[in-house]
Amino acid sequence: MSGYKKIGEAELKIENKVIKLPLFEGAEKEHAIDIGNLRSETGSITMDPGYGNTGSCFSSITYIDGEKGILKHRGIPIEELAEKSSFLEVSYLLIYGHLPGKKELNDFTTSVTRHSMIHEDMKRFFNNYPATAHPMSIISSMICSLSSYYPDCFNSDPASVDLNIARLIAKVNTIAAFSYKKSIGQPFIGPINRLSYVENFLHMMFAVPAEPYTVEPVFAKALELFLILHADHEQNCSTSTVRMVGSSLANLYASISAGICALWGPLHGGANQAVIEMLTRIEKERMDVKDFVQQVKDNKKSGIRLMGFGHRVYKSFDPRAKILKKACDDVLKKIGKHTALLDIAKRLEETALKDSYFIERKLYPNVDFYSGILLQAIGIPVNMFTVMFAIGRMPGWIAQWKEMLESPDLKIGRPRQIYTGPVTQPYVPIDQRI
Ligand code: ACO
Repeated sequence: MSGYKKIGEAELKIENKVIKLPLFEGAEKEHAIDIGNLRSETGSITMDPGYGNTGSCFSSITYIDGEKGILKHRGIPIEELAEKSSFLEVSYLLIYGHLPGKKELNDFTTSVTRHSMIHEDMKRFFNNYPATAHPMSIISSMICSLSSYYPDCFNSDPASVDLNIARLIAKVNTIAAFSYKKSIGQPFIGPINRLSYVENFLHMMFAVPAEPYTVEPVFAKALELFLILHADHEQNCSTSTVRMVGSSLANLYASISAGICALWGPLHGGANQAVIEMLTRIEKERMDVKDFVQQVKDNKKSGIRLMGFGHRVYKSFDPRAKILKKACDDVLKKIGKHTALLDIAKRLEETALKDSYFIERKLYPNVDFYSGILLQAIGIPVNMFTVMFAIGRMPGWIAQWKEMLESPDLKIGRPRQIYTGPVTQPYVPIDQRI
């Protein structure tokens, strides 16, 4: 069985003291120095703002080689999953550690399907948000609220955990679609059990009671692909948030709700919305792509980044971006819709990839660069883009939360700091303060 093993020791000299630190090797030959005893033995801690060099866990879910552009879930390359699998099958793989057999997949699918309705009382929550509310604020609070309706989420027995996992994957679809319906003033359209996971979502989003709605198979396929490509990405900002919150033994819904909030930011999942806004601005203002790239290169002054470019881990092509670029071409061709935004995105990519600014910094398109164009082709409104990412990332967050809770090494997350404030200062009474 693959795992990790101790392969030696690293030596660290601090002033005149030399200490030995265990050196580990993971299944893909990546190395880590265990600094567990560093502070107790030397009084020093490590400093790594942004955690770019800090491993927070041992995990057997997802492997990324950022230099080579490799992404694998449980050892299976993302390219293969994107081509051959379904979103619920990938969800099962991530959460339970193996590709499901027929019965396992059937039971899981049935469980998710049968838990897609939300409690009638919860429907009333939607009325209390302003129509302008960002759907990410609605879904993060709704997901947290699920813990009030399903108190068995506080139990750690496997049957309760499995049930709440199925509920969460099922209900996030419905909550997301309802938040959209609320924002446009249309009645909620409930789930239909004969439809697949993605068909159901499209139906709940776009059907209206006044006329029949048929799900466009091209859109269902494109959405399935989008969700698969977003299913997990190891210890990114939102996943680390889920683990951090979960490490205090907060329940599943609370932990995932925190992850949704982390995903919302424009440097993380919010980037797909920011990309479309950027492309739309270039189109509307008829900007020259080269001029825009120049502004990006001057970002210290302009404050403009090329959204959808760059990644903390990928220092070459994000494999998901490659798959999505092709999917955009295919979907737009199939529905016979030409979009200027795809042309602009391609020209931006071409210009950036030839430019020394991007080459030197190893900045390549990430998953968000083309995903917005695909979502737009399906008819998903821009303010729902990050919500779509959250639906896709749900199984990854759940798998990481579950793996952490099942780990014998579970510890509450609690980083340290180096204090930089005043060493001592007297308390000045308020009437003597300047
Ligand atoms: N456009 C222009 N310059 C960039 C970009 C960009 N998109 N990304 C990084 N850089 C530059 C920085 O200005 C910096 O330059 P400097 O060395 O001259 O100061 C250098 O590249 C390194 O950038 P950092 O911000 O230090 O890199 P980091 O790894 O911390 O950031 C991040 C990664 C946040 C993704 C960054 O590349 C970025 O802001 N990209 C745009 C937003 C985006 O697309 N986010 C989605 C990420 S994928 C995801 O979350 C699903």
